[in-house]
Amino acid sequence: MSATAKKRAPLPDDIRARKGGEPLVSLTAYTTPMAQMMDAHCDFVLVGDSVGMVLHGLPSTLGVTMEMMILHGQAVARGLTQAMMVVDMPFGSYEASREVAFENAARLMRETGAGAVKLEGGVGMAETIAFLVQRGIPVMAHIGLTPQSINTLGGYKVQGRGAAGEALMADARAVAEAGAFAVVLEKVPQGLADRITADIAIPTIGIGASAGCDGQILVVDDMLGLFTAFKAKFVKRFANLGEQGEAAIADYARAVRAREFPAAEHVFADEAPK
Ligand code: KIV
Repeated sequence: MSATAKKRAPLPDDIRARKGGEPLVSLTAYTTPMAQMMDAHCDFVLVGDSVGMVLHGLPSTLGVTMEMMILHGQAVARGLTQAMMVVDMPFGSYEASREVAFENAARLMRETGAGAVKLEGGVGMAETIAFLVQRGIPVMAHIGLTPQSINTLGGYKVQGRGAAGEALMADARAVAEAGAFAVVLEKVPQGLADRITADIAIPTIGIGASAGCDGQILVVDDMLGLFTAFKAKFVKRFANLGEQGEAAIADYARAVRAREFPAAEHVFADEAPK
């Protein structure tokens, strides 16, 4: 896709059809201006539950609510005309039963206009994925490091090394067979990510996985250098906006204290110009 060519937003089937083709491009977004910046460049935009950590200062994604996802989903939707929007199902909104998952997924789609939802889990979530897909809800799956399970995974570790690779392969096959139209592979060793990509019929979207995946996703604040609390190995900072922003704020503070700002061009004359 060229950055300038006008296109309609892809549907989940269009994303699925990109298996093995030009890599799919994706970023997270949480606000209208960010969504506008990436609309022409991304195939799909994820309103990730990473919003909790990145914008709200939460220690993990576990505190993210349906209301937060809906509010940020609505904001992102206002900034997109060309990219598909996927909204994350937050922790606690889909695990209890297939019916609860359906109610919450339908609400997310109805109230945000999202084209699909994403949920975390492999074999254990396959039945729920099938239930949603059979009822008209396109699902993107997310396996490997699933941050909502951080307390049972015991940390943000690489997933699927050694013998655990077979279980991850089983997760990938299960979500593909259940009808997911794509699957995020997070923090999965490169060779395993390549084997999964070759094995399943739906696109794999890598984050800390492999350049051989069918697409890539990053958290936008990570790749712009806006989120600086920590940097995962798999993040490449394509800009350092956090540093630039802080330097600009320091310059503003200095200019105010020195009475250099506001200058003549920023203030209004007592008499209106004739
Ligand atoms: O919430 C999120 O940002 C995500 C991506 C890391 C895939 O799930």
